[in-house]
Amino acid sequence: MSRKIAVFGTGYLGATHAACMAELGHDVLGVDVDEAKLGKLAAGELPFYEPGLPEVLRRNIENGRLRFTPSYQEAADFADVHFVAVGTPQKHGELAADLRYVDAVIESLAPLLSRPSVIFGKSTVPAGTAARLNGRVRELAPVRDQAELAWNPEFLREGFAVKDTLHPDRIVLGVDSARPGNAEAVARDVYAPQLEQNIPFLVTDLATAELVKTSANAFLATKISFINAIAEVCEATGADVSVLADAIGHDARIGRRFLNAGIGFGGGCLPKDIRAFIAMAGELGAGQAFALLREVDSINMRRRNKMVELAREAAGGSFIGARIAVLGAAFKPDSDDVRDSPALNIAGQIQLQGAAVSVYDPEAMQNARQLFPTLQYATDVCSACSGADVVMILTEWGQFTSLDPYELAKSVRQRTIIDGRNCLSPEGWRNAGWTYRGIGKP
Ligand code: UDX
Repeated sequence: MSRKIAVFGTGYLGATHAACMAELGHDVLGVDVDEAKLGKLAAGELPFYEPGLPEVLRRNIENGRLRFTPSYQEAADFADVHFVAVGTPQKHGELAADLRYVDAVIESLAPLLSRPSVIFGKSTVPAGTAARLNGRVRELAPVRDQAELAWNPEFLREGFAVKDTLHPDRIVLGVDSARPGNAEAVARDVYAPQLEQNIPFLVTDLATAELVKTSANAFLATKISFINAIAEVCEATGADVSVLADAIGHDARIGRRFLNAGIGFGGGCLPKDIRAFIAMAGELGAGQAFALLREVDSINMRRRNKMVELAREAAGGSFIGARIAVLGAAFKPDSDDVRDSPALNIAGQIQLQGAAVSVYDPEAMQNARQLFPTLQYATDVCSACSGADVVMILTEWGQFTSLDPYELAKSVRQRTIIDGRNCLSPEGWRNAGWTYRGIGKP
């Protein structure tokens, strides 16, 4: 059955969720305090790059199932199913997550709930947040106990946001186990098309649902740092980490995915989520268990420094007077997101140490320029590499992995390439006369 849904927050998560709920056949209102952003979305324009999402957005605006508003009152009058999809960034100067946007949605929305409603939290929050917010909703809502809050974490990846939302690996729903209410029935209705595809649906208590999300991200981060630690050992022994990852990945208990060694993880989620996890565990008195995640974080950050050292060595021992081409600024391919991007961090460090750095990325140039205005930005691969002493591939865009080493050789001053994502064929580049350096490879 089609439901009337409001989605609060129209950033990455919210815009995707709103558009995909409309795609499932629901009537959806996207709500945000940023009216400029709403204007763009209503015109079918996305403020970020996400393959496939513009089509879903436009299709559902045109068929009338998706609209946008800054008005909470309109949302409360229109919908009885509400999703909270605002950001929970890292607090300035602390490891913990900043919950002010989530709190603000609940404080503004709950007093307007004058008929039975369910609020589903989607944002990533520390355990205990949902129970606290559930209490607030019942306190503030005129309908009292007929307003309830459940937690429905989101696992979408940038670059695959539409697919991950329409065909998730699993749907997790945390409900108040003391007073389960209607949340499960409403969620079954909202996600009926997915449940028909037999996508696993797990109903848990609130804290478990919150922790499922944080643990999933912590595990993924651990997997990446594990292989990067192995890469350090490979470097010391002359072994090849890519071949090693293929070999251990055949063991179904281990699995090959998320075992790509390189310059490590970045983005708007993994780094801040593991830090929030460490902070939360500390507050709960379970901090010791999270020495592990601190190590995961430091292995990850160490990759960036190692990459700078590798580039310095490749430039002949000093960056002074060296020209370095950096291909990639986004934290991963198929995204224009540069939040905590290892690529930009490395480019920035190298430039600060005296090199002339020229950066090119197929989609993230505008965001990169905003974050690091002092770097030099090129209009294409060729001009980024013009006269370069060292070329560095720091984001594995298809456009870079398919580069022709013979063609590129015409632009550079010196044929030295550093493959920060182990995404090129070492033989192919060496055969074309390049000095190739990967990560955790001889
Ligand atoms: C992540 C989680 O995957 C997703 O489930 C959650 O909802 C949000 O956080 P995302 O931030 O889009 O998604 O990126 P992801 O694809 O997980 O990649 C994270 C980072 O890890 C990227 O910088 C990527 O380059 C890096 N990475 C990934 C590696 O270094 N090696 C790998 O093997 C995989």
